[in-house]
Amino acid sequence: MRVLGIETSCDETGVAIYDSRAGLIANQLYTQSKLHESYGGVVPEIAARNHLQKTVLLIQAALQECQLKAQDIDAVSYTAGPGLVGSLLIGACIGRSLAFALNIPSIAINHMEGHLLSPMLEKSPPDFPFISLLVSGGHTQLISVTAVGCYALMGESLDDAAGEAFDKIAKLLGLGYPGGPELSNIAKNGVRGRFIFPRPMTNRPGLDFSFSGLKTFAAQTIYNNEKTQQVRADIACAFEDAIVDTLLIKCQRALDQSGFKRLVVAGGVSANCVLRSKLTDMMARRNGAVFYARPEFCTDNGAMIAYAGAIRLKESQNHSLEITVHPSWPLS
Ligand code: KG4
Ligand code: ZN
Repeated sequence: MRVLGIETSCDETGVAIYDSRAGLIANQLYTQSKLHESYGGVVPEIAARNHLQKTVLLIQAALQECQLKAQDIDAVSYTAGPGLVGSLLIGACIGRSLAFALNIPSIAINHMEGHLLSPMLEKSPPDFPFISLLVSGGHTQLISVTAVGCYALMGESLDDAAGEAFDKIAKLLGLGYPGGPELSNIAKNGVRGRFIFPRPMTNRPGLDFSFSGLKTFAAQTIYNNEKTQQVRADIACAFEDAIVDTLLIKCQRALDQSGFKRLVVAGGVSANCVLRSKLTDMMARRNGAVFYARPEFCTDNGAMIAYAGAIRLKESQNHSLEITVHPSWPLS
């Protein structure tokens, strides 16, 4: 069974083909970040227009990559939400229409489920049950996962997502978009302990997050200090540590609460090296195991949507010719 997956929820056009026997056999990605960089964030109209230009070309490139024809595909999966409505509509229209033309099933995939399942594309995938930390540009969530489709939300951000906070502070530090990787890069030269930032909502019970106060604290620190390269690096380092420690403390709580021994970390921020190293150490101390996707599958991609399509093929076939998307679509 071969599933062609299409991802167009934000500013990456991803197309991949997952074969239930051979695994991932094609993976194509076009990143729009250069188009949005001068605006300091994603411009929805530009994103949608660019998906329209790129999606069919990437489908063609994916088929060429594994030397298949469209007729060799058994199903099409596409991201139907959450995300930018105009961008979602492009992938949904193209995906559903391709399936209609080929007379094969289509599967509408929740983007966050795609992220959640992305570590399953790796050599040692996690078994169920596990705690999933989903950390992206739009979401920060802790989810108890007992099987595919059995997702219980344990906690989430009440305001900014972790990736969004990274991007906003990176912008104030004069870095490009997306800011997370750039901020993390300059933080490597920062002096640890030169600035100490709060670890929000960790001194009270619960699994929710709030990063807006930390963001304001970091912004004030930027305004009140010289903008030398060293000071910017020191602030980036303090900010990254505060986000990472906060995520780590809440992961420990979720693991304690559930009794689970496995942690799965997914979404763009899971590419962060400091986060990965601290969570790996923490799980080793607990005699547990932590699972990530390879860095290029942490950020948005078609592979996770093709994989989720293959897993969801039986129960989630969509035969309706009314094409719908869900800009806000809770995972649970
Ligand atoms: O999952 P993703 O590609 O898109 C959404 O679904 O939102 O996540 C993008 C987010 C951006 O906010 C980006 O700055 C952040 O992930 N990100 C990182 C790193 N790589 C990507 N944040 C911190 N450190 C990184 N290495
Ligand atoms: Zn994403």
